[in-house]
Amino acid sequence: MPAKVEEFGHFIGGKWVVPPRAKRFETVNPSTREPVGSFVLGTPDDVNAAVAAAAKAFPAWRDTPAPVRGEILLEVARRMKEAKPSLGRTVTREMGKVISEGLGDVQESIDFIEYMAGEGRRLAGETIPSELRSKFCMTVRQPKGVVACITPWNFPTAIPNWKIAAALITGNTIVFKPATATARCGAEVVRLYEDAGLPPGVLNFVTGSGSVVGNALVADPRVRTVSFTGGVEAGRDVYVRGAQGLKMVHLELGGKNPVILMDDADLPLALDGVLFGAFGTAGQRCTATSRLILHAKVYDQFLEMLTDRLDQFPVGDPLDPKTGMGPVASADQEKKILEYIEIANGIEYGLSSALYTKDVNKAFTAMRDLYAGITYINAPTIGAEVHLPFGGTKATGNGHREGGIGAIDFYTEWKSVYVDFSDKLQKAQIDREE
Ligand code: UN1
Repeated sequence: MPAKVEEFGHFIGGKWVVPPRAKRFETVNPSTREPVGSFVLGTPDDVNAAVAAAAKAFPAWRDTPAPVRGEILLEVARRMKEAKPSLGRTVTREMGKVISEGLGDVQESIDFIEYMAGEGRRLAGETIPSELRSKFCMTVRQPKGVVACITPWNFPTAIPNWKIAAALITGNTIVFKPATATARCGAEVVRLYEDAGLPPGVLNFVTGSGSVVGNALVADPRVRTVSFTGGVEAGRDVYVRGAQGLKMVHLELGGKNPVILMDDADLPLALDGVLFGAFGTAGQRCTATSRLILHAKVYDQFLEMLTDRLDQFPVGDPLDPKTGMGPVASADQEKKILEYIEIANGIEYGLSSALYTKDVNKAFTAMRDLYAGITYINAPTIGAEVHLPFGGTKATGNGHREGGIGAIDFYTEWKSVYVDFSDKLQKAQIDREE
């Protein structure tokens, strides 16, 4: 008899709950088709309960000192390090990326949680001079309230943690909806936060479809902030729905990321980078290399090198455009660097980009002119580090960033504070010392 599949509920108000008459779905191992976990198909009632729990938990969490919030995050990171071998295997079993990348997914989570824990001792605002005497001005960051985190399957622990750890350190409470395909990874992440001592209701977890659970979250008036990573069509829909409630929506919708090889590129280095960028995570990263733009002088040589390596590649023929895995090469005759960049900038998305060159002038031209959220010099389009802003231009998103200070900015609102200690009514703009 096959082993029974582990059943999970929602996590609401600090308890794992299975609503009465709940329908279920299973996640499956994409390489063996074996089930990995069984999950509740959430309803609008479940979302209502989760949002209510998050709203109830918000005042106490907001008032918990940020360094204390950070200590809980450090405990999550500590537990995640212990769990890394098994959690990495779960990522691989449920999502299908190779085990080194499954472990890398978890490591990215650990890095981000530790980084955000440290941010709890900063969260700095500014002090700014007043135009009036005996008056003090400053800015402080405030949490936004209940945040909905809706995440994809390609980084099933890292992307949830990008959102969760950033929203928590800044004092928000959360309803987290994982991708249906990787709900087990989501549940295992939530268990670590639970075990680390996060107060009940601060992080809630509701499984189910985007069209039911996701839409109910975005429609709920108590949810003022939504962070969504996924496809462009779904993202547009979330944005439009969020606009009805004047919500603050962060979107990260992927890319078609180019690598540009100049005539002086280190070709063996570029070959390794292109292969890793294009086929790492089976090409399913938002940051995956999907365009290859070759200087005419290196076009033939590089394509030959690429073809040789691809002949030994264990999957199909990625040069066949029908497979969707192959690089698209484009080489006009003699072109200047700016024209290559103009080719690269013609893409609908603007997440990541890369340029291989030994020429510092070309490198700085690319850094200035590539219209993308991320530019690499002499490195592939993948491999963003957690403490730098992550996100992109054009159809990749709507101007927000996660990672680094970008995440702190998204999950907080500025408050300007004026303290008048002059004991008299002073009028800005009117009491002028001419
Ligand atoms: C994604 O594909 O959505 O830069 C995230 C990278 C990883 C994150 C990718 N650190 O490739």
